[in-house]
Amino acid sequence: MSPGSSDWLPAWLALLEQAQQALLAALHALGLATELNGQPAWPFAQRLALEVLAIDRGLARSLLLAVLVLALALLPALAGLLWRRTRRPLWAGALLGLGAGLALWPWGQASLLWAPAVPSSFQHSPSGFSAAAIVQGAQRYQQLCVACHGASGSGDGPLAAQQPLWPPNLNRGLLARRREGELWWQLQHGAQDAQGRPTMPSFASSLSSSDAWQLLAYLQAQAAGQSLREEGRWLQPVALPELAVRCEGGPTRPLRSWTGQRLRLVAVAGGALLREDPRFITIAVSAPGQPASAAQCQAQGPEAWAALARIAGVAPTELAGTQFIADRQGWLRARNPPGTAGWRAEDLVCRAEANGAPSGGRTPADALDQLIARMDAEPVRAVVPGTPHLP
Ligand code: HEC
Repeated sequence: MSPGSSDWLPAWLALLEQAQQALLAALHALGLATELNGQPAWPFAQRLALEVLAIDRGLARSLLLAVLVLALALLPALAGLLWRRTRRPLWAGALLGLGAGLALWPWGQASLLWAPAVPSSFQHSPSGFSAAAIVQGAQRYQQLCVACHGASGSGDGPLAAQQPLWPPNLNRGLLARRREGELWWQLQHGAQDAQGRPTMPSFASSLSSSDAWQLLAYLQAQAAGQSLREEGRWLQPVALPELAVRCEGGPTRPLRSWTGQRLRLVAVAGGALLREDPRFITIAVSAPGQPASAAQCQAQGPEAWAALARIAGVAPTELAGTQFIADRQGWLRARNPPGTAGWRAEDLVCRAEANGAPSGGRTPADALDQLIARMDAEPVRAVVPGTPHLP
């Protein structure tokens, strides 16, 4: 949990992440990094362990201090070079600063700064968190993963007990603590314990590169649905799944083209009339094979319904009547189940843990306004780059 928006740590971590990505881009441009999945491949066996720095403030601070001093030391040296004159005091200052920087460097804990890396460490899914990827990934999961990880991903498959290591519960925040590129690598290459013995098999022969990316989208949707079932809230922020939408006979446009505006997705049962609400862009999602609803904007394709059912943790037959609200940054924040008389405060299912479910505010007319106000007041922030968290 970050103590406030003036906190230096997230900005420092974001800078370190960008520095590593810039290094990779530069190496790639110079022909020193190969490609994998059509993206630059990280050439080193290690990377900065931002996930460790995020919880070890002391270490993050000493690294910041050392880098600042080193940068200050390099400035006069650079200036001396540019002027092409030997300026002894400048060089002496630079050497002094360099020495101080090296002395400040967190040598003692240096091993904590690094985490093992793989070529795909800094890669991102080309299919992203899309409804189509979630539905495709679901099929693969049924074929290849259920035996160990169980029907809901909690690690209770029929073969779980025979594994050298019990398969972890994938729904309790594990995915959010990992880089997607490193999860992708594990699906392709399997996992080993510290002694190098295999713990999870490799799926490179049965899973194409794009299958593996799609599976990761499914795992996220599954984790969201399971945590809603078990905890009554999303333990990790869930992005709006990417969908194609058409409004009033216009061209199809991606859902992400509305970023910056609040969206409401409504799963409507066959052709039902949907009232617009000035507080949102409303998008109707109809069950596959059902007539489109009388709404201005309609999700296209049969996958939208199945993907939203996964995220809500219900069977597709139970989804009709469910509503979702996404904030202006594109995070799903609230879910109103069918059979309730309008929005309730507890429908804000993506919220900071510490605050818990607010009580009261039951007057239907302003319950939704209160919910929106709270959603806007508590934006989703990335503490470790790439892994979103609530404030
Ligand atoms: C034969 C059993 C088995 C099968 C099949 C299996 N897994 Fe695993 N999985 C494991 C075990 C055991 C671990 C723990 C490995 C470890 O921590 O070394 C694991 C760990 C994981 C993790 C956590 C990785 C991490 O970084 O902690 C993910 C994600 C995962 N599996 C996804 C999948 C997916 C997706 C499939 C289907 C393609 C799958 N697994 C198939 C046994 C299995």
